[in-house]
Amino acid sequence: MNVQKLTDTAATLVVGDRGLLAMDESNPTCNKRFAKLGIPQTAEAHRAYRELIVTTPGLGECISGAILYDETIRQQKNDGTPFAKALTEAGIIPGIKVDAGAKEMAGHPAEKVTEGLDGLRERLAEYAPMGARFAKWRAVIVIGDGIPSRGCIEANASALARYAALCQEAGLVPIVEPEVLMDGAHTMQRCGEVTEEVLRTVFHQLYDQRVILEGMLLKPNMVLPGLTCPQQESVDEVANATVRCLLRAVPAAVAGVAFLSGGQAAELASARLNAMHVRFKSRLPWALTFSFSRAIQQPALEIWSGQDANVKASQQALLHRANCNRAARRGQYTVTMEGRK
Ligand code: 13P
Repeated sequence: MNVQKLTDTAATLVVGDRGLLAMDESNPTCNKRFAKLGIPQTAEAHRAYRELIVTTPGLGECISGAILYDETIRQQKNDGTPFAKALTEAGIIPGIKVDAGAKEMAGHPAEKVTEGLDGLRERLAEYAPMGARFAKWRAVIVIGDGIPSRGCIEANASALARYAALCQEAGLVPIVEPEVLMDGAHTMQRCGEVTEEVLRTVFHQLYDQRVILEGMLLKPNMVLPGLTCPQQESVDEVANATVRCLLRAVPAAVAGVAFLSGGQAAELASARLNAMHVRFKSRLPWALTFSFSRAIQQPALEIWSGQDANVKASQQALLHRANCNRAARRGQYTVTMEGRK
Protein backbone atom coordinates (compact mmCIF):
# COMPACT_ATOMS: atom_id res chain seq x y z
CA MET A 1 0.00 0.00 0.00
CA ASN A 2 1.32 3.42 -0.95
CA VAL A 3 0.65 5.31 2.27
CA GLN A 4 2.42 8.44 1.05
CA LYS A 5 0.19 8.65 -2.01
CA LEU A 6 -2.93 8.27 0.14
CA THR A 7 -1.90 10.91 2.65
CA ASP A 8 -0.84 13.29 -0.15
CA THR A 9 -4.20 12.94 -1.91
CA ALA A 10 -6.14 13.38 1.33
CA ALA A 11 -4.09 16.45 2.24
CA THR A 12 -4.53 17.95 -1.25
CA LEU A 13 -8.31 17.55 -1.04
CA VAL A 14 -8.52 19.68 2.11
CA VAL A 15 -5.59 22.10 1.88
CA GLY A 16 -6.20 25.87 1.75
CA ASP A 17 -9.75 27.14 1.54
CA ARG A 18 -11.31 24.89 -1.09
CA GLY A 19 -13.86 22.14 -0.49
CA LEU A 20 -15.53 19.23 -2.27
CA LEU A 21 -18.52 19.11 -4.55
CA ALA A 22 -20.74 16.04 -4.30
CA MET A 23 -22.21 15.55 -7.79
CA ASP A 24 -22.78 11.85 -7.28
CA GLU A 25 -26.54 11.72 -6.96
CA SER A 26 -27.66 8.25 -7.93
CA ASN A 27 -29.98 8.05 -10.94
CA PRO A 28 -33.11 7.67 -8.78
CA THR A 29 -32.15 10.72 -6.66
CA CYS A 30 -31.14 12.77 -9.69
CA ASN A 31 -34.39 11.83 -11.46
CA LYS A 32 -36.44 12.86 -8.44
CA ARG A 33 -34.81 16.31 -8.45
CA PHE A 34 -35.15 16.62 -12.24
CA ALA A 35 -38.83 15.59 -12.14
CA LYS A 36 -39.67 18.42 -9.72
CA LEU A 37 -38.35 20.89 -12.31
CA GLY A 38 -39.82 19.21 -15.37
CA ILE A 39 -36.40 18.12 -16.67
CA PRO A 40 -36.38 14.85 -18.67
CA GLN A 41 -35.08 11.91 -16.64
CA THR A 42 -32.65 10.54 -19.21
CA ALA A 43 -28.97 9.66 -19.30
CA GLU A 44 -28.48 12.54 -21.77
CA ALA A 45 -30.09 15.05 -19.40
CA HIS A 46 -27.89 13.77 -16.57
CA ARG A 47 -24.89 14.18 -18.88
CA ALA A 48 -25.82 17.69 -19.99
CA TYR A 49 -26.27 18.80 -16.39
CA ARG A 50 -22.96 17.31 -15.31
CA GLU A 51 -21.25 18.98 -18.29
CA LEU A 52 -22.66 22.30 -17.10
CA ILE A 53 -21.09 21.71 -13.68
CA VAL A 54 -17.72 20.46 -14.88
CA THR A 55 -17.27 23.31 -17.39
CA THR A 56 -18.14 26.10 -14.94
CA PRO A 57 -15.35 28.65 -15.41
CA GLY A 58 -13.27 29.16 -12.24
CA LEU A 59 -14.81 26.21 -10.34
CA GLY A 60 -11.35 24.81 -9.57
CA GLU A 61 -10.56 27.88 -7.49
CA CYS A 62 -13.22 26.85 -4.97
CA ILE A 63 -13.50 23.10 -5.43
CA SER A 64 -10.64 20.65 -4.76
CA GLY A 65 -12.47 17.42 -5.52
CA ALA A 66 -15.72 16.32 -7.17
CA ILE A 67 -17.52 13.08 -6.37
CA LEU A 68 -19.00 11.36 -9.44
CA TYR A 69 -21.62 8.65 -9.86
CA ASP A 70 -20.92 5.47 -11.84
CA GLU A 71 -22.89 6.70 -14.85
CA THR A 72 -21.09 10.07 -14.83
CA ILE A 73 -17.54 8.75 -14.64
CA ARG A 74 -18.30 6.83 -17.85
CA GLN A 75 -19.69 9.92 -19.62
CA GLN A 76 -18.00 12.67 -21.62
CA LYS A 77 -18.37 16.29 -22.50
CA ASN A 78 -19.90 17.08 -25.90
CA ASP A 79 -16.39 17.31 -27.33
CA GLY A 80 -15.61 13.75 -26.20
CA THR A 81 -13.47 14.60 -23.14
CA PRO A 82 -14.29 12.21 -20.29
CA PHE A 83 -15.63 14.06 -17.25
CA ALA A 84 -12.84 12.77 -15.02
CA LYS A 85 -10.26 14.22 -17.42
CA ALA A 86 -12.12 17.53 -17.71
CA LEU A 87 -12.17 17.84 -13.92
CA THR A 88 -8.46 17.06 -13.63
CA GLU A 89 -7.71 19.71 -16.26
CA ALA A 90 -9.74 22.18 -14.18
CA GLY A 91 -7.60 21.42 -11.11
CA ILE A 92 -10.29 19.28 -9.47
CA ILE A 93 -9.56 15.73 -8.27
CA PRO A 94 -12.19 13.22 -9.46
CA GLY A 95 -13.73 10.83 -6.94
CA ILE A 96 -16.39 8.13 -7.16
CA LYS A 97 -19.37 7.07 -5.05
CA VAL A 98 -19.08 3.31 -4.56
CA ASP A 99 -21.84 2.30 -2.18
CA ALA A 100 -24.94 0.60 -3.55
CA GLY A 101 -27.36 2.62 -1.46
CA ALA A 102 -29.02 2.43 1.95
CA LYS A 103 -31.47 -0.48 2.13
CA GLU A 104 -34.11 -1.48 4.69
CA MET A 105 -32.34 -3.32 7.52
CA ALA A 106 -33.75 -6.73 8.34
CA GLY A 107 -35.19 -6.95 11.85
CA HIS A 108 -34.81 -3.19 12.31
CA PRO A 109 -37.99 -1.40 11.23
CA ALA A 110 -37.38 2.17 9.96
CA GLU A 111 -33.60 1.69 9.94
CA LYS A 112 -31.23 1.30 7.01
CA VAL A 113 -27.95 -0.36 6.25
CA THR A 114 -25.77 0.57 3.29
CA GLU A 115 -24.86 -2.21 0.88
CA GLY A 116 -22.14 -2.55 -1.76
CA LEU A 117 -19.23 -4.53 -0.28
CA ASP A 118 -19.67 -7.52 -2.60
CA GLY A 119 -17.33 -7.10 -5.57
CA LEU A 120 -16.08 -3.77 -4.25
CA ARG A 121 -12.39 -4.69 -4.69
CA GLU A 122 -13.01 -5.35 -8.40
CA ARG A 123 -15.03 -2.15 -8.87
CA LEU A 124 -12.33 -0.05 -7.21
CA ALA A 125 -9.76 -1.60 -9.56
CA GLU A 126 -11.94 -0.47 -12.47
CA TYR A 127 -12.45 3.10 -11.23
CA ALA A 128 -8.79 3.92 -10.51
CA PRO A 129 -7.71 3.75 -14.20
CA MET A 130 -10.72 5.96 -15.08
CA GLY A 131 -9.08 8.71 -13.00
CA ALA A 132 -10.76 8.36 -9.60
CA ARG A 133 -8.38 9.12 -6.74
CA PHE A 134 -10.85 8.97 -3.90
CA ALA A 135 -14.19 7.33 -3.12
CA LYS A 136 -17.30 7.83 -1.04
CA TRP A 137 -19.64 5.57 0.93
CA ARG A 138 -22.68 6.96 2.74
CA ALA A 139 -24.38 5.35 5.71
CA VAL A 140 -27.74 6.68 6.88
CA ILE A 141 -28.77 6.88 10.51
CA VAL A 142 -32.35 7.82 11.36
CA ILE A 143 -33.32 9.39 14.69
CA GLY A 144 -36.76 8.38 15.96
CA ASP A 145 -38.62 6.65 18.73
CA GLY A 146 -36.13 4.11 20.13
CA ILE A 147 -33.80 4.44 17.16
CA PRO A 148 -31.03 4.36 16.12
CA SER A 149 -30.35 0.91 17.55
CA ARG A 150 -26.89 -0.35 18.40
CA GLY A 151 -27.36 -3.04 15.75
CA CYS A 152 -27.90 -0.43 13.05
CA ILE A 153 -25.02 1.79 14.15
CA GLU A 154 -22.61 -1.15 14.37
CA ALA A 155 -23.61 -2.71 11.03
CA ASN A 156 -23.17 0.61 9.23
CA ALA A 157 -19.90 1.41 10.99
CA SER A 158 -18.53 -2.02 10.16
CA ALA A 159 -19.41 -1.64 6.46
CA LEU A 160 -17.88 1.85 6.35
CA ALA A 161 -14.64 0.52 7.83
CA ARG A 162 -14.44 -2.47 5.47
CA TYR A 163 -15.08 -0.15 2.52
CA ALA A 164 -12.40 2.27 3.74
CA ALA A 165 -9.82 -0.52 4.08
CA LEU A 166 -10.55 -1.75 0.54
CA CYS A 167 -10.20 1.80 -0.83
CA GLN A 168 -6.82 2.28 0.79
CA GLU A 169 -5.66 -1.10 -0.53
CA ALA A 170 -6.62 0.15 -4.03
CA GLY A 171 -4.82 3.49 -3.54
CA LEU A 172 -8.04 5.52 -3.25
CA VAL A 173 -8.70 7.88 -0.34
CA PRO A 174 -11.94 6.84 1.37
CA ILE A 175 -14.48 9.46 2.35
CA VAL A 176 -16.32 7.95 5.28
CA GLU A 177 -19.84 9.38 5.48
CA PRO A 178 -22.06 8.39 8.39
CA GLU A 179 -25.04 10.73 7.97
CA VAL A 180 -27.39 11.29 10.89
CA LEU A 181 -30.49 12.62 9.13
CA MET A 182 -32.13 15.96 9.97
CA ASP A 183 -35.65 14.55 9.46
CA GLY A 184 -37.76 14.49 12.60
CA ALA A 185 -38.73 16.54 15.62
CA HIS A 186 -35.71 15.61 17.76
CA THR A 187 -33.70 18.26 19.57
CA MET A 188 -30.20 19.42 18.67
CA GLN A 189 -28.98 17.82 21.88
CA ARG A 190 -30.30 14.43 20.76
CA CYS A 191 -28.63 14.88 17.37
CA GLY A 192 -25.37 15.62 19.20
CA GLU A 193 -25.65 12.51 21.37
CA VAL A 194 -26.45 10.25 18.40
CA THR A 195 -23.76 11.79 16.19
CA GLU A 196 -21.14 11.34 18.92
CA GLU A 197 -22.11 7.69 19.46
CA VAL A 198 -22.06 7.03 15.71
CA LEU A 199 -18.66 8.67 15.22
CA ARG A 200 -17.11 6.85 18.19
CA THR A 201 -18.37 3.54 16.80
CA VAL A 202 -17.14 4.36 13.28
CA PHE A 203 -13.63 5.23 14.49
CA HIS A 204 -13.53 2.10 16.63
CA GLN A 205 -14.32 0.03 13.53
CA LEU A 206 -11.85 1.99 11.37
CA TYR A 207 -9.16 1.17 13.95
CA ASP A 208 -10.10 -2.54 13.96
CA GLN A 209 -9.97 -2.62 10.14
CA ARG A 210 -6.51 -0.94 10.16
CA VAL A 211 -7.55 2.12 8.22
CA ILE A 212 -4.89 4.82 8.06
CA LEU A 213 -6.52 7.93 9.47
CA GLU A 214 -4.11 10.31 7.72
CA GLY A 215 -5.25 8.83 4.41
CA MET A 216 -9.01 9.29 4.84
CA LEU A 217 -11.60 12.05 5.18
CA LEU A 218 -14.67 12.09 7.40
CA LYS A 219 -17.91 13.44 5.94
CA PRO A 220 -20.26 14.01 8.88
CA ASN A 221 -23.53 15.86 9.38
CA MET A 222 -23.54 19.07 11.37
CA VAL A 223 -25.19 18.79 14.78
CA LEU A 224 -28.62 20.28 14.09
CA PRO A 225 -32.11 20.32 15.57
CA GLY A 226 -34.56 18.10 13.68
CA LEU A 227 -36.34 19.84 10.81
CA THR A 228 -39.65 19.90 12.67
CA CYS A 229 -38.26 20.52 16.16
CA PRO A 230 -39.96 23.65 17.57
CA GLN A 231 -36.65 24.91 18.96
CA GLN A 232 -34.24 25.90 16.18
CA GLU A 233 -30.87 26.96 17.60
CA SER A 234 -28.86 29.89 16.28
CA VAL A 235 -25.97 29.61 13.84
CA ASP A 236 -23.46 30.06 16.69
CA GLU A 237 -25.14 27.41 18.83
CA VAL A 238 -25.00 24.93 15.94
CA ALA A 239 -21.33 25.75 15.43
CA ASN A 240 -20.60 25.17 19.14
CA ALA A 241 -22.49 21.86 19.30
CA THR A 242 -20.94 20.56 16.09
CA VAL A 243 -17.35 21.38 16.92
CA ARG A 244 -17.72 20.09 20.50
CA CYS A 245 -19.02 16.78 19.15
CA LEU A 246 -16.25 16.45 16.55
CA LEU A 247 -13.49 17.34 19.03
CA ARG A 248 -14.74 14.57 21.33
CA ALA A 249 -15.10 11.86 18.72
CA VAL A 250 -12.74 12.43 15.77
CA PRO A 251 -9.06 11.57 16.21
CA ALA A 252 -6.63 14.40 15.43
CA ALA A 253 -4.79 12.22 12.89
CA VAL A 254 -7.72 12.32 10.44
CA ALA A 255 -6.70 14.36 7.39
CA GLY A 256 -9.88 16.37 7.17
CA VAL A 257 -13.54 16.74 7.98
CA ALA A 258 -15.84 17.77 5.11
CA PHE A 259 -19.49 18.29 5.98
CA LEU A 260 -22.49 17.10 4.01
CA SER A 261 -25.28 19.67 3.82
CA GLY A 262 -28.14 17.22 4.41
CA GLY A 263 -30.98 19.42 3.13
CA GLN A 264 -30.05 22.61 5.01
CA ALA A 265 -30.81 25.83 3.16
CA ALA A 266 -27.74 26.76 1.14
CA GLU A 267 -27.12 30.07 2.90
CA LEU A 268 -27.55 28.52 6.34
CA ALA A 269 -25.00 25.81 5.56
CA SER A 270 -22.47 28.50 4.58
CA ALA A 271 -23.23 30.57 7.68
CA ARG A 272 -22.83 27.58 9.99
CA LEU A 273 -19.52 26.49 8.47
CA ASN A 274 -18.36 30.10 8.68
CA ALA A 275 -19.25 30.34 12.38
CA MET A 276 -17.21 27.20 13.14
CA HIS A 277 -14.16 28.88 11.62
CA VAL A 278 -14.75 32.25 13.25
CA ARG A 279 -15.18 30.69 16.68
CA PHE A 280 -12.84 27.69 16.65
CA LYS A 281 -10.25 27.99 13.88
CA SER A 282 -7.21 27.89 16.20
CA ARG A 283 -8.57 24.87 18.13
CA LEU A 284 -9.24 22.51 15.22
CA PRO A 285 -6.77 19.62 14.78
CA TRP A 286 -8.05 18.78 11.27
CA ALA A 287 -8.97 20.78 8.19
CA LEU A 288 -12.70 21.59 8.36
CA THR A 289 -14.40 22.06 5.01
CA PHE A 290 -17.46 21.26 2.94
CA SER A 291 -18.52 18.40 0.68
CA PHE A 292 -21.95 19.68 -0.23
CA SER A 293 -24.31 18.54 -2.93
CA ARG A 294 -27.64 20.34 -2.49
CA ALA A 295 -26.18 23.39 -0.69
CA ILE A 296 -24.00 24.09 -3.73
CA GLN A 297 -26.07 22.73 -6.61
CA GLN A 298 -29.73 23.33 -5.81
CA PRO A 299 -29.97 27.02 -6.84
CA ALA A 300 -28.01 26.27 -10.05
CA LEU A 301 -30.20 23.27 -10.88
CA GLU A 302 -33.36 25.34 -10.46
CA ILE A 303 -32.02 28.08 -12.75
CA TRP A 304 -30.92 25.57 -15.40
CA SER A 305 -34.21 23.61 -15.42
CA GLY A 306 -32.99 21.70 -18.46
CA GLN A 307 -32.75 24.76 -20.75
CA ASP A 308 -29.59 25.45 -22.79
CA ALA A 309 -30.30 29.18 -22.62
CA ASN A 310 -29.90 29.07 -18.82
CA VAL A 311 -26.49 27.38 -18.70
CA LYS A 312 -24.49 30.55 -18.10
CA ALA A 313 -26.75 31.87 -15.34
CA SER A 314 -26.79 28.43 -13.75
CA GLN A 315 -22.98 28.24 -13.79
CA GLN A 316 -22.82 31.67 -12.16
CA ALA A 317 -25.13 30.47 -9.38
CA LEU A 318 -23.03 27.33 -8.90
CA LEU A 319 -19.81 29.32 -8.70
CA HIS A 320 -21.44 31.78 -6.32
CA ARG A 321 -22.35 29.05 -3.81
CA ALA A 322 -18.94 27.44 -4.15
CA ASN A 323 -17.36 30.85 -3.51
CA CYS A 324 -19.57 31.49 -0.46
CA ASN A 325 -18.47 28.18 1.04
CA ARG A 326 -14.86 28.91 0.24
CA ALA A 327 -15.23 32.23 2.10
CA ALA A 328 -16.88 30.33 4.99
CA ARG A 329 -13.79 28.16 5.27
CA ARG A 330 -11.79 31.30 5.83
CA GLY A 331 -14.36 32.64 8.32
CA GLN A 332 -15.07 35.47 5.87
CA TYR A 333 -18.58 34.63 4.68
CA THR A 334 -21.12 37.39 5.24
CA VAL A 335 -24.73 37.66 4.16
CA THR A 336 -23.74 40.65 2.00
CA MET A 337 -22.08 38.11 -0.32
CA GLU A 338 -25.61 37.01 -1.19
CA GLY A 339 -26.21 40.32 -2.92
CA ARG A 340 -28.60 41.72 -0.32
CA LYS A 341 -28.43 42.88 3.26
P1 13P B 1 -25.93 16.90 0.56
O1 13P B 1 -24.88 17.99 0.75
O2 13P B 1 -27.02 17.29 -0.37
O3 13P B 1 -26.39 16.35 1.88
O4 13P B 1 -25.20 15.71 -0.17
C1 13P B 1 -23.98 15.30 0.30
C2 13P B 1 -23.74 13.90 -0.12
O5 13P B 1 -22.79 13.62 -0.78
C3 13P B 1 -24.68 12.87 0.33
O6 13P B 1 -24.10 11.62 0.18
